[in-house]
Amino acid sequence: MRKAVFMVCGIAILAVLATGAVADTDRTYKDAEYVGSKACKACHKVTYDSWAETYHSKMVRTKDDGILKAAVEKWDTDGTTPGPKKANVTGKEFKLEDVQYVVGSYWKQRFLVKNEVTGFHQFMDKQFNRMSEKWENYGNKNDWETNCVTCHATGVRILEYDPKNPLAQKIAWTEENTGCETCHGPGAKHVKGDKKGSMWNPAKQSKAEQTRVCGYCHQRVENEHYKTAQGNNREDLPAPKIGETFKPWDDWTKWYPEGVVIPGVQSEDPFNKEYAGDLKGLFILDELAMKSGVYDSGKHHQEFQEFIQSKHYKNGKMSCTDCHTPHKGKNIKPVVAKETCKKCHGDTYDYAKIMPGSGSTAANLTVRTHTFFKDQARPSKPTASGAPVLYKDSKK
Ligand code: HEC
Ligand code: HEC
Ligand code: HEC
Ligand code: HEC
Ligand code: HEC
Ligand code: HEC
Repeated sequence: MRKAVFMVCGIAILAVLATGAVADTDRTYKDAEYVGSKACKACHKVTYDSWAETYHSKMVRTKDDGILKAAVEKWDTDGTTPGPKKANVTGKEFKLEDVQYVVGSYWKQRFLVKNEVTGFHQFMDKQFNRMSEKWENYGNKNDWETNCVTCHATGVRILEYDPKNPLAQKIAWTEENTGCETCHGPGAKHVKGDKKGSMWNPAKQSKAEQTRVCGYCHQRVENEHYKTAQGNNREDLPAPKIGETFKPWDDWTKWYPEGVVIPGVQSEDPFNKEYAGDLKGLFILDELAMKSGVYDSGKHHQEFQEFIQSKHYKNGKMSCTDCHTPHKGKNIKPVVAKETCKKCHGDTYDYAKIMPGSGSTAANLTVRTHTFFKDQARPSKPTASGAPVLYKDSKK
């Protein structure tokens, strides 16, 4: 895993243009409070190893570490559609050898190459669907560093931001992917010896607080105030105050300034409204939804917005972590999500019927809905299963 941080800064960009390139080492950001997941391994080995198996630790990897076997084999063509050829921001042509990082592996994979103009990384024009093994168009015209990191890295903070000059924003993070400190808070003091009480343990919080930590990333919003360095909307969350980063105990639902759309989180932005832009098609607004007032997602990473509609959440007795353990631990036994229902409901509910594939993540590929609606009647769209095969593993 790469431990790098990117500085998005007008001055840095000029420097890049002048000197040609930014070395990875120039992007390391040190925060005295954050120590990184590896620092936890010495004393929490079981926890660390089990976290390393989850996709939270695998989202962004170097090409050599994480590229899918089938993507390599089908790079030129999947038989019908040619693979990636050029980059989305600069339009420059790139080859497989030029790919530096891969993003995702379980549902789909996207490919990052250098953006020579900014010194950051831009996406290539195709994404690989892991289940169908087909190439699909992907047109995001922003650098990864300025558009996606909030939910795909740890300790992210905006260091400088001037709304009149979004090009001069500066953003940094302490660790790639969803590290230990995302859900437990910064660890420097704890690692030095303040053992009890210095780490935030979700198990000791209310069910709503447990769910809210996960919801910080497992939802879809649009921020109309903060813009990317390229001047586009960030597909992103509002940052806490400039210079600060999200802490697991923060009530981020209160951070949204006026004019920011957060369907279902703030009452003035209800589920049953059709939104514009990236939020279009956010929820399925068919007859079943209108009659029941239960809104299944039309897009992926909206589990929070679905779950807060459920009786499981509303009666305060359940959180995401009752069905999903982020890792094994001294006091944490592994839980298989789909096997939990029996424990409380006997044979009343079949998870496959109550949780049909709903939120689209790639062509004909969805994530299961989390509204837990007993009169669910929609047939399931295809979902992902099994483990992806990586190029590196196939060569062992
Ligand atoms: C030097 C050893 C050591 C290191 C390094 C360490 N821990 Fe701990 N941690 C402990 C001990 C000891 C406890 C308390 C023992 C217990 O009761 O389980 C603990 C407890 C915890 C708890 C439970 C706190 C509570 O109040 O319930 C969490 C969460 C935790 N550690 C997370 C982390 C994270 C995240 C890291 C890395 C940033 C880390 N630890 C690094 C030794 C360590
Ligand atoms: C910092 C953002 C972030 C937070 C906070 C977060 N997640 Fe995730 N989660 C992700 C991302 C990104 C992925 C996709 C990773 C991938 O596919 O490589 C993911 C994937 C998952 C998956 C499917 C993959 C797997 O390994 O099982 C589950 C289940 C999940 N998260 C549950 C949770 C729960 C429960 C919490 C709260 C305790 C939580 N997440 C908190 C970002 C986050
Ligand atoms: C609001 C948080 C958030 C933002 C912003 C975000 N993502 Fe994600 N993303 C997630 C979560 C959570 C998941 C996993 C759960 C799911 O898909 O339902 C995910 C899944 C993915 C996956 C699939 C992972 C896999 O293993 O197949 C890819 C690829 C991805 N995101 C890329 C991006 C890109 C590119 C951007 C920026 C354009 C972005 N994400 C912005 C939260 C976010
Ligand atoms: C009542 C149990 C339950 C609760 C509570 C729950 N989930 Fe799930 N979740 C499931 C089941 C079952 C699946 C499907 C797993 C499968 O297909 O094997 C799933 C799938 C997922 C996936 C896709 C990963 C996959 O393996 O397909 C993500 C991401 C996810 N849940 C995140 C969350 C988040 C975030 C929350 C809280 C907002 C949450 N879940 C609450 C039961 C639950
Ligand atoms: C996606 C959020 C998330 C991430 C990432 C995460 N944890 Fe946890 N952790 C939790 C939750 C939730 C609990 C509460 C356990 C439960 O009831 O499922 C927990 C509990 C713990 C505990 C106390 C319980 C015990 O007996 O072990 C320790 C220690 C811990 N985590 C350490 C770590 C370390 C070390 C890492 C990184 C290697 C890590 N966690 C990564 C969410 C997370
Ligand atoms: C820890 C116990 C527990 C687990 C595990 C659990 N549930 Fe529930 N479930 C409940 C409770 C409690 C309610 C709320 C009952 C009420 O308030 O009437 C509920 C409500 C529901 C409802 C709505 C019922 C209604 O009357 O509207 C559905 C559907 C449901 N659960 C499905 C599932 C599925 C599917 C799973 C597994 C993925 C699951 N549950 C796992 C405890 C659980």
